[in-house]
Formats: sequence, structure tokens, C-alpha cells
Amino acid sequence: MIEGLRATRTDRGPQYVIEALDGEMGKDVHTAVVPMFDYDLIVSRDPVNVQAVLATESADWDISEHRAASWLPFVGLGIFTSRGEHWKHSRALIRPQFALGQINDLDLFERHVQHLFAAIDRHQGDETEKGWTRAFDLQPLFYNLALDVMTEMLYGYSLPVLPGYESPDRENIGKHMDAGKAWVETRGALWKYRWLLPSKEFKKHCAAVHKYAEWFVQLRLQRDAERYLDGLQQHTGAANKDRYVLLHELAKTTQDPVELRSQTLNVLIAGRDTTSALLGWVFYLLCRHQRVWDKLRREVLDHFGHYVPGQASGFGFRQVRDSLPYLHAVINETLRVAPVVPLNDRVALRDTVLPRGGGPNRDQPVFVPKGTQILIPTYALAQRPDIWGPDVDEFRPERWIENGGRKHGFEYIPFGGGVRQCLGQQFARIKSAYVIIRMMQRYDQVANAETPPDARMRFHHTIENRSGSGVQTLKGHKLLIVAPWKEPAGCLAKLAAEFPDLQVIYHVQEWSATSTPLPEAELPKETWKDVTILLTFSNLPAPEDAPKLEYVQLMSAGANHVFDTPLFKDTEVTFCTANGVHGPQISEWVITTYLAFEHHVPEYLELQKKAHWNRSDMMSIEDAVSKTVGILGYGSIGRQTARVAAAMGMTVHAYTLHPRPTPDSRRDHGWRPPGLGDPDGSLPAKWFSGASTADLHAFLASGLDLLVIATPLTERTQHLLTKAEFELLGSCGKGRTFVSNIARGPVINTEDLRDALERGLIRGAALDVTDPEPLPDGHPLWGARNVIITPHVSGASTRYVERVLAILECNLSRLAEGVELVNRVDRKRGY
Ligand code: HEM
Repeated sequence: MIEGLRATRTDRGPQYVIEALDGEMGKDVHTAVVPMFDYDLIVSRDPVNVQAVLATESADWDISEHRAASWLPFVGLGIFTSRGEHWKHSRALIRPQFALGQINDLDLFERHVQHLFAAIDRHQGDETEKGWTRAFDLQPLFYNLALDVMTEMLYGYSLPVLPGYESPDRENIGKHMDAGKAWVETRGALWKYRWLLPSKEFKKHCAAVHKYAEWFVQLRLQRDAERYLDGLQQHTGAANKDRYVLLHELAKTTQDPVELRSQTLNVLIAGRDTTSALLGWVFYLLCRHQRVWDKLRREVLDHFGHYVPGQASGFGFRQVRDSLPYLHAVINETLRVAPVVPLNDRVALRDTVLPRGGGPNRDQPVFVPKGTQILIPTYALAQRPDIWGPDVDEFRPERWIENGGRKHGFEYIPFGGGVRQCLGQQFARIKSAYVIIRMMQRYDQVANAETPPDARMRFHHTIENRSGSGVQTLKGHKLLIVAPWKEPAGCLAKLAAEFPDLQVIYHVQEWSATSTPLPEAELPKETWKDVTILLTFSNLPAPEDAPKLEYVQLMSAGANHVFDTPLFKDTEVTFCTANGVHGPQISEWVITTYLAFEHHVPEYLELQKKAHWNRSDMMSIEDAVSKTVGILGYGSIGRQTARVAAAMGMTVHAYTLHPRPTPDSRRDHGWRPPGLGDPDGSLPAKWFSGASTADLHAFLASGLDLLVIATPLTERTQHLLTKAEFELLGSCGKGRTFVSNIARGPVINTEDLRDALERGLIRGAALDVTDPEPLPDGHPLWGARNVIITPHVSGASTRYVERVLAILECNLSRLAEGVELVNRVDRKRGY
């Protein structure tokens, strides 16, 4: 048992079953009794026995109560976790979801394939990479795709865009599902001793997963049936009324929120992890078998041609199902070489027999007492050379089509078999085939970027594709924090709890606005030698002093102060900004100054100082309702400002340099505090974009009452607002615009601004940044009409450090998972 647990821990559990049977019993022994601590476990890789357990004698067997109990807190009682009559009931409820008419909706897949492509495009490399993307892990993208497809299928739609409802935590739900699943696996491995495990972390993940499903359940229960579907149809554009939406159908038979949550979650987890792992393994194998890739791509292109952007796929369900034999052979062979569910099990409900394995020749029935567990090693069954031939170790899809096609029985059970056979099999096959076709139409090559390239295959907890380095821990990493403040209470302890393998050093260093290396006296070179991660405002080492450095997390939202450093210019070290830390406080500053101006607060404070009561001006106070705010630069600050402004009843116009025509392009891909900002980009009533003066002018002429400047300072944005722009605001906006600058002073030409204020071309201005900065004593801008000036403090908040550390933790997790870091600085764009 210890050996088995060790094998599970090192991701070779399924292979270990073969090694143990072959090594300890012999290659021709296929059924064995293995003593565990205080019980006996039968292991059988004999298809005849497997058929008896899963199909012909299935009344004698069921899933074990330990397996059910391991999963129960995570997904609740549903098809996976129930036995007997309850299971029958669940299966009958869920089966209609998988009728042919429900699984042939290729539009559903296409919508989400487009999101997948957009996510892949974000990894696009620069010209030097000759059309290749940067190296990245496809697997997390397949998880997202599967989650979105399943959510849409089970709950009616995938993107939480219903106005008036707080969205579920779409961003982190995958992480909670994975972490929760890992706990379930460990609980399962510990069998009846699972109570030994601490449960606080597990509970946290369970709660998050429940909350995700509950969000939809509550929505369905709060809205009557018709309105639920109408709402979905309106917001997804999909014809939900004609579809079988599991939640909606279940809600016709029960209004119990826990049952609705559990039944749907059981299927959601089953469908998300499996299909995404299958896709992960397909591409894992394809990029290691060029011959197969070439042959498959030829088949795909011969039938369906190349991908044409913006054009529908042009083929239907039946073509996917019937016309690409090699594609289906590739899927079959992938499921043989890397079965997504490599181990299965059952327990005997009564005294029974297995047809084979007893007697001197091991061909006699074996008595099995009630309560005995049997392990069905799907992987080992598909690896028997006596069944599959001497090339069993090879990835060779041809075996499925040559000689008239391979017929298979219970030696090949990637989808289980018998009474509890996978309900989602056809759906999973069609969905995977569709995604593979579209990928092959669009990309002419995939390459193995794993290091080392021949790392062994690793099978993680039941359902996950885990290549040698695709998922990493932070073992071997060393984090150096160089901060201008003392260690915030509990910071190091928290990092240690979350990343036990990570070595952390904390160094206090006075803040500097420019990038400065640390003197040797402060931090010896020796310390830098094996630092792999650095958190700092501006203290960067010389590249040769920190040869292992991989990732620098800046504490500032901008990165311009490091552009000229050798570490940034001459290395490929990843730099990430703290973009997102400023949204809350700066948006508050914008709204505070705007409202203060509109409500005449500065004047009343002056009057207060003079102890004078005067309300003669009160009829000119304007409130914000129905006014329009234009946000120049729709980043994290702009999005949070939009959120607050929209809450006050304002209309939002957004301006971005690059066009945002699709829902995905409007989404916020950076870090933000939970529950804030505009994650989907759904707040603006109008989007403007473009680099030309005409584009900018179209935005400025759109009737803005408040213009918020929130763009980074680049060559392009230097003096973006000059005389011509203020004249335009004066003529189109009739001087009603209030300008708020929280970006950088030089975005505005100071003299032109002062002139505009004096001439009444704009209503007033709030400036947290100026040019020059600091604004010298006596500078004419101090005395300009209707201006509020603060000394570059809008970004200050007592929560700043907390948020910087949250970004660091988020990126450490991503680093550990091999996922692209958030807020990564694009060296070409300069932000
Ligand atoms: C490559 C993809 C998939 C694989 C390899 C797979 C594999 C399996 C296996 C091995 C079982 C049997 C478990 C057992 O015998 O205890 C199963 C059951 C099940 N699968 Fe799948 N599955 C896949 C995709 C899906 C999808 C996409 C869905 C739903 C949309 C789904 C829904 C289910 C359900 C509901 C059951 C439970 C059946 C029952 O217990 O009655 N599966 N799957």
C-alpha cells in the first residue's frame, strides 16, 4: 500500500499497477488479491472479469461508499456519488441531456473555440519567433473551454452577464475545482482513514465550487421558467428555448436548491475535467508524433479546408462524426495510451464470483465475499501486449482502422462500461473532434516545448493531463522581496503556508523612484545567485549577478522606470506590473473630486473658514445622474471608475487604443481585486478606439460631462490633449466637460489646459498629476479657474501593500501551474 501511495504521489499510479502485477505475480497473471492494511483488494485486468463486474453481474456490484463519501462534500449527492435507487433516479433525470438532438449543437462549440483562439493569440510571439507563439501550456485553456461549454450546456449560458446579478467567480473557479479534486483523490486513496486529513482547505474549495453552481440555481429559482430562458436567450444570443438545459429541466421536478446544485455539479465536474484532459493528451501526443500530426492535418484540410477568420466552420455534426476516420482513430488511440480515467473501482454488494482467475491455471471462478473492493485498471487493460500486440507501447492510431477496423470489448473501457457507462461519451467525442478540427484548420504546427523534451508521461489524480513540466511546484524557487516597508504582519507565514517549497528572503530598502541596483553592502551578491523571483519597486540586479532570475514582480502599476535597465533590455526575464492595485482608490479620487466640484465643496470649505453661511449658489448644483463619463484608457482604473460612475447613474463611454469588437477583446485580462472593475467590459454604452487624431476627436465629441484620463504615458500619449482637443470640447461639449487627470501630467499640454480653463472651454479640472511635477510654488496653474490640484496622491491607500501581495500570490500560483502570469509587461508595447 505504501508503494502504491508513493506511486500515486509521483504521478505513476496507473503504471505502478502494471509494474506490480508483472513484477510480483507474473506477466500472465491478470487477477490478484492484494493485501492492504486491514482489508484485501482484488485487482483485475482481465476483460472477462471486468465485463462481469460492470455489465453482466452488475447487480452484485456498485461504486464503493468510500468513493462516494470522498466526493460527497465536493459535488454533493448526484449521479456520481449515489448508489442503488438514488443513482437510478439521477441517471434517468440526466440521460435526456445527452439525446442526439442535444449534443449536435456545433454552434455551442464554435462560440467557445473562438474564445480559445483569442486566448492562444494572447501568447503570440514577436517577429523574431517567425509566426510561432511563445511557449505556453494549452491545458489550462482546454479547462476553461470545457468549463464554459459545460456551464452553457447545463445552466444555459456560460458568461455571467445578466445585469443586476453579481457574477459568480468565473476566474478562480477552475482553481478551486482542481484543488478540490486533488483533495478528493487523496481522501479516496486514504479510503476509510480519510478523516485523518485536515479539512479546512478542502472545505474552502468545496464552498467555492458550491457557490458557482448556486449562482445559477438561485437565478433559476428567483426567475420563473420563461423569464430564465428569455434572459439567457437575450444575453447569449443562443436559442436556449430549444435546448435541454439540465438545471431548467430539473427545476421542474424539484425546487430544492441543494439537490439542483448537486445534480448539476456532478455532471459539470464529470464533463469539464475529462474532455479537457482528453484534448490535453491529444495535443501532448500530436506534438511528439509529427507523422500523426501531418496525416491527421491532411485529412482535416482535405475535408474542410483551412480556417477562415470570421467565417462559420461550414460543416455539420454528421460530417464530424462520419467523415474523418483517422481523427477518431487518434482520439481512440489517445484514450488507450492515456486514458483520462485510468483507474476505476467497485465493491461487492453481496457474496459473488468473478468468472476467472482461480485454480492452478487461473481460469476458474473466484469467490468474492460481500464488501470486497475491486480495482479495475483501465490503463493496464489497454496495455496488455497479448491483447494489443507487440507494438502496444507505441502511439499508433492506425491500429483502429487497419484490417477493417478494430472491434473492442472490455479491454478498452475509457468511458467505463455496462450500467454506469459514461453518459457523456458521444458528447465528449464530438466536442473533442470539433476542437481538434478547428485547431488543425487554424494552426499548421504544434511543438513540444517541454523541458526536458522527453520527460516521462505522468498520470495525475484520475483526470488530468500532466506532462513532466506542464504543472510545476515552486520547489527550487527562491523569492527575494525588496520592499520599503517592514514585513506586513503574517506575510511570510502566509507565503510559507501556500507555497511550502518556496524559499523567501525579505529585505527592507528605502524607496526610490528610479531603478537602482542594490549596493553589495546592502545585499551580498551571494544572495542574488539563486534568486528566481524578485518583488521590488525598482531595485534590479545586474543580469550577471542573478543568472537564475525568471520573474520580476514590480510593485508599481507602470514599468517605464525599468525600461532602460540591462535586466529589462538584455534578458528575457518576465516583468509583471502591479496593475490593478490602484483601481479602488484612484476611482474614489476621481469621483470625489468630480462630486466635490459639482457640489461646490471647495467654495463651501472657504466659506466655512470664514464662518460664513451663504447658499446663494445652490441652484447651480448638478448631480451625476444621466451624465456621461468618457474614460480615456479603459484599463483597471478606468474600469473601476466606470463601475462606480455607472452605479451613480452615469453613462460610460470607453476609449482604447486597440479596437475591441468582440466580447473577448473587451474582457479584462489583468489582475483586479475580487468583485471590482468591469471584468466583461459590459459597462460602456459606447466603445471608441484608434490611434489617429480623428479617432480621438470622435470620442471627445461624444458629449462628455466628465473626461477621465487614465492612459499610460507613452510616446503616443505625450501631449494627447492640446489646444485642438480643448477647442473641440468647448465647441461640441459647449464647455460642459470636467477633465480629471490621474494618469501622467505630460498627457496634457499644461499651457493649453490653463488657457482652456480660463476661456471656459471646459467646466473645470481635477489634477492629481501635473507637468511639471512637482508643480513649483507660484506656477500659474495653481491659480487657474475651477481647478482642484492634489500632489500625486490619488494612488495612495493603506490597502496598497495587501493588494501587491495578492498579485504576487496570484502569479506564484500561476507560475507553479505553468500558466501565463498576469500583468506581464509586453516589451514591444511598453506596458
Ligand atoms: C473524454 C471524456 C470522458 C471520459 C474519458 C469519461 C469517462 C467516464 C467513465 C470512465 C465513467 C464511468 C465511471 C464509473 O464506472 O464509475 C463515466 C461516467 C460518467 N460520465 Fe463520463 N467521461 C467523459 C466525458 C464526459 C462528459 C463530457 C460528460 C458530461 C457532459 C460525462 C458524464 C458522465 C456521467 C454523468 C457519468 C456517470 C454515469 C453513471 O454513473 O451512471 N462524461 N465517464
